[in-house]
Amino acid sequence: MKITLIHGQNHKGSTYYIARMTAEKIGGNIDEFFLPRDFNDGCSGCLACLHKGREHCPRSQKVGKIFGAMLLSDVIIMSSPTYVMEMTSHLKGFLEHIYTAWIAHRPEEAMFSKTAVVISTAAGMGMTGVTKSMAKQMFYLGIPKVYRLPFRVMASDWGGVNNKIKAKIESKTNKAARKIISRNGCAKPGIKTRFIFSMMRSFQKNNDYAPLDKEYWTNKNWLGKERPWKHIK
Ligand SMILES: Cc1cc2nc3c(=O)[nH]c(=O)nc-3n(C[C@H](O)[C@H](O)[C@H](O)COP(=O)(O)O)c2cc1C
Repeated sequence: MKITLIHGQNHKGSTYYIARMTAEKIGGNIDEFFLPRDFNDGCSGCLACLHKGREHCPRSQKVGKIFGAMLLSDVIIMSSPTYVMEMTSHLKGFLEHIYTAWIAHRPEEAMFSKTAVVISTAAGMGMTGVTKSMAKQMFYLGIPKVYRLPFRVMASDWGGVNNKIKAKIESKTNKAARKIISRNGCAKPGIKTRFIFSMMRSFQKNNDYAPLDKEYWTNKNWLGKERPWKHIK
């Protein structure tokens, strides 16, 4: 299996260990990125991606490296420590650069068969909201199956996590990995994805705000009978 592992932080604390452990349990080729090491920007709001294409983003090369790996993988694992009850600014900054690949704009067919795992740790609280938020990002990219793994670690690094919590982490990551392996990393869009897609399809029919989006949907024949998941085996 091909796995893209995106860490929302550079350092190797609890979040890193859990994400890395999950990837290794699933097994396969792991393409690993650290933010901000591999991408360190927030969106500047030029909207070149929306109106001209993602290749016109001033940071398209760096974005393309990570997003390209995501497109080629079966499983995407994204992790972030909880910072002020949110994901890290570095991860959010990267996600801002790929919003034009959302179902609302120009989604990639390849996303509609992938599985994602989103992981967050917090000392006390906020990790469930962070995984919810990361899962939302994955959903709007078209990824049909997202496993959420929030952990209250009550520590500021992996060495400080007690054995009872480590056992819980071990068990939850084992369970998710087993499920992903049994499905070979593949998933099919459910009713929610299909519903949002059909809503966006109606919107695209009358879209005069972002002509590039409408052209994309027209060329894919998604305004006709084609669907991005139709050819998934
Ligand atoms: C800037 C910053 C903000 C934080 N905000 C929260 C928070 O909102 N809630 C919380 O429970 N812990 C918070 N923490 C603690 C970390 O989320 C927690 O220790 C986490 O497990 C660290 O992960 P790491 O070991 O991968 O660095 C914060 C830590 C930092 C450095």
